[in-house]
Amino acid sequence: MIDNTVGSDDKSALQAKFDAQKIAFAPVMFQAAKVLRDLGILEYLKKAGKKGADINTVATNLKLPEYGVKVLLEAGLSLEMVRLENDRFVLTKTGFFILRDKLTQVNMDFVNDVNYLGMFHLQESVRNGKPEGLKVFGDWQTIYEGLSDLPEQAKESWFAFDHYYSDYAFSELMPLVFEGNPEKILDVGGNTGKFSIWCAEYNKSVSLTILDLPGQIKVAQENIEQMGYENRISTIGLDLLDNSVPFPNGFNIIWMSQFLDCFSQQEILGLLKRAYNAMDLNSVLYILETYWDKQRFEASTYSLHAISLYFTCMANGNSQMYHSEDMINLVDKAGLFVEENYEDVGISHTLFKCRKKK
Ligand SMILES: C[S@@+](CC[C@H](N)C(=O)[O-])C[C@H]1O[C@@H](n2cnc3c(N)ncnc32)[C@H](O)[C@@H]1O
Repeated sequence: MIDNTVGSDDKSALQAKFDAQKIAFAPVMFQAAKVLRDLGILEYLKKAGKKGADINTVATNLKLPEYGVKVLLEAGLSLEMVRLENDRFVLTKTGFFILRDKLTQVNMDFVNDVNYLGMFHLQESVRNGKPEGLKVFGDWQTIYEGLSDLPEQAKESWFAFDHYYSDYAFSELMPLVFEGNPEKILDVGGNTGKFSIWCAEYNKSVSLTILDLPGQIKVAQENIEQMGYENRISTIGLDLLDNSVPFPNGFNIIWMSQFLDCFSQQEILGLLKRAYNAMDLNSVLYILETYWDKQRFEASTYSLHAISLYFTCMANGNSQMYHSEDMINLVDKAGLFVEENYEDVGISHTLFKCRKKK
């Protein structure tokens, strides 16, 4: 059940109208913020410190036209990325985060390089239930089919985004994953092998199997070979949406990280049922996800609601960052239950430890 008490409407009409203008101009101002970052203007102001710098000084030192620097810095005032003191522009805290905060950089590059052009097709995507924006990159049904063939910049930003979020969680979760001394782990949707390689490094005897689409498996194999883990990490390239193909069995742990959000609820049920069929009463299924209702910070919920639209328009047209109750219901329908619930993992993750119902 989705909360029906989220948000309020108690701001003044004046504030509401201002907020509406922020939305109306959001794409323009987004580009302004990015250009302020990418042309080195924010970096210059950071170095100028509390004294700041005037337009002419910034333009001369960065060898940029004064006109362009002027309009960008003035936009920066409304973006609250810079402030004006005696005709000199000074970097603000928000400007500093745009410049230096890794989370902000990863999100901004993901929005620009993966989503920006395609989002023009959001309306068709909603109507058709298909990622209509994806055609800006290629003729694929889902972005996952095309991941390894995306244009270089889009690929780099996609992986930086994906890895940034999961890397934090992985390092934190290793002791938990290995508390029962698992011998065999199935890494479902293991992508380029990061989690499996992390496990192989952490525990010297565990063996792992990665399931993913052939394009990602090829990259995973290269990474595994580079690390010398061919004997401990095996891979299977397949389309996991094919419900007629069972999961391999005999694993102590089935691991699904940032994986189920790539699918519709009906597809998730199919995946969970196949996990169920591959488990016995001692096996554990771990589901690592970011749920929008489980966030401590407004900034995280805001980001997750926006990321859902990436799934709608760019990724597959039918999935999202879920509410935790959606997932718990699906786990239940698949014949499993959540034995433990670990919140506040990594950046904004929740880990469900699931078992078969007795
Ligand atoms: C968001 S990534 C998560 C990767 C990794 N588990 C992590 O936590 O960073 C989702 C993964 O699911 C895989 N995937 C999506 N659809 C798939 C399908 N139909 N069959 C197999 N793998 C699929 C993608 O290729 C991708 O590697």
